[in-house]
Amino acid sequence: MAAEKWVLMVTAQTPTNIAVIKYWGKRDETLILPVNDSISVTLDPDHLCTTTTVAVSPSFDQDRMWLNGKEISLGGGRYQNCLKEIRSRACDVEDKEKGIKIEKKDWQKLHLHIASFNNFPTAAGLASSAAGFACLVFSLAKLMNLKENQSQLSAIARQGSGSACRSLFGGFVKWIMGKEGNGSDSLAVQLVDEEHWNDLVIIIAVVSSRQKETSSTTGMRESVETSLLLQHRAKEVVPKRIVQMEEAIQNHDFSSFAQLTCADSNQFHAVCLDTSPPIFYMNDTSHRIISYVERWNRSVGSPQVAYTFDAGPNAVLIARNRKIATELLQRLLFFFPPNSETDLNSYVLGDKSILRDAGIDGMKDIEALPLPPEINNISAQKYSGDVNYFICTRPGGGPVLLSDDSKALLNPKSGLPK
Ligand code: DP6
Repeated sequence: MAAEKWVLMVTAQTPTNIAVIKYWGKRDETLILPVNDSISVTLDPDHLCTTTTVAVSPSFDQDRMWLNGKEISLGGGRYQNCLKEIRSRACDVEDKEKGIKIEKKDWQKLHLHIASFNNFPTAAGLASSAAGFACLVFSLAKLMNLKENQSQLSAIARQGSGSACRSLFGGFVKWIMGKEGNGSDSLAVQLVDEEHWNDLVIIIAVVSSRQKETSSTTGMRESVETSLLLQHRAKEVVPKRIVQMEEAIQNHDFSSFAQLTCADSNQFHAVCLDTSPPIFYMNDTSHRIISYVERWNRSVGSPQVAYTFDAGPNAVLIARNRKIATELLQRLLFFFPPNSETDLNSYVLGDKSILRDAGIDGMKDIEALPLPPEINNISAQKYSGDVNYFICTRPGGGPVLLSDDSKALLNPKSGLPK
């Protein structure tokens, strides 16, 4: 392969995920081994995903990476660990059409270019690192012809960011904490694919926030060091919830699913409060959304919507079906109407057909929304500006290769960002 100037590349797309039983706390910080199992739902990549192009060429003189068009350092331990793990498993690769042959041993000397792009704002706090590391590992595994299966790849993605291991699959996914000291059995498995429970509709409220949140990594370290509730949660609570959640998912039992999801989110935030010094991820808007959902569920007599919050104020709301999602969106827009300057088209993103079903075409329709029956006039205040925007989505599929060259983020000749 000596002095040729060829570039070989692969492009892939990987979804993000939201945990319904949370991962919070590590037993090993370097290998990223958790203190409990967790379960997530993968979000539709049409609305939230990372696209990554990875390229190899004898003309590259160092590993380089660009995130959303800006070059970033690959020096961090997490990137280095993922790259090392993948390179050590690389196999022979041959592209007969291009006349390229790379032998297993060549991968140790060859350098990589990586370009990654999120189709949602990285700063919105929507698990961009999960989709990002999953996509990095998945695309490199394809480029380097790894023989590992998806679960084995998830154990590599885990070393980039814990929650990333769950983004290697679509549908509902379990991250098994494992027992081994080397982390070989701490990996993700698919519980059911995205078709299994396709009635579910997910609406994300991206909540405005001025404060810079504690990162998950720092937050969970402090919780492990100081929270007794975390110990109790990991030993006594989560193991039982995992069994119940798996059952609820298998049986499409929305009542149990919603009850477990909400309780687990609330317990995770209780652990944050139990941390010294306490960590506050949710804000007044988050709390308000919880109250509205709880009140609605109570008034109907059974859960219609589940809520869950990660390490930030954004609400992820899971509606039992499309009809309920339509009613949910009407309620959300009633309480959190857009600012007068905001255009509805940029206020409700993702699957806009839910907006149409809700009969909302413009500001006048939002103003005409009736007071939800479960709410009395006293608490009917509106909070315009407290939500930045909503994303309507659903459970989605796992990583895919994009063979269409026009989707690649790197130039096929230079291997530099397009
Ligand atoms: C609250 O995976 O971001 O979203 O492993 O340190 O990178 P690191 O943390 P990360 O933590 C996610 C925490 C969570 C819950 C979850 O996704 O299970």
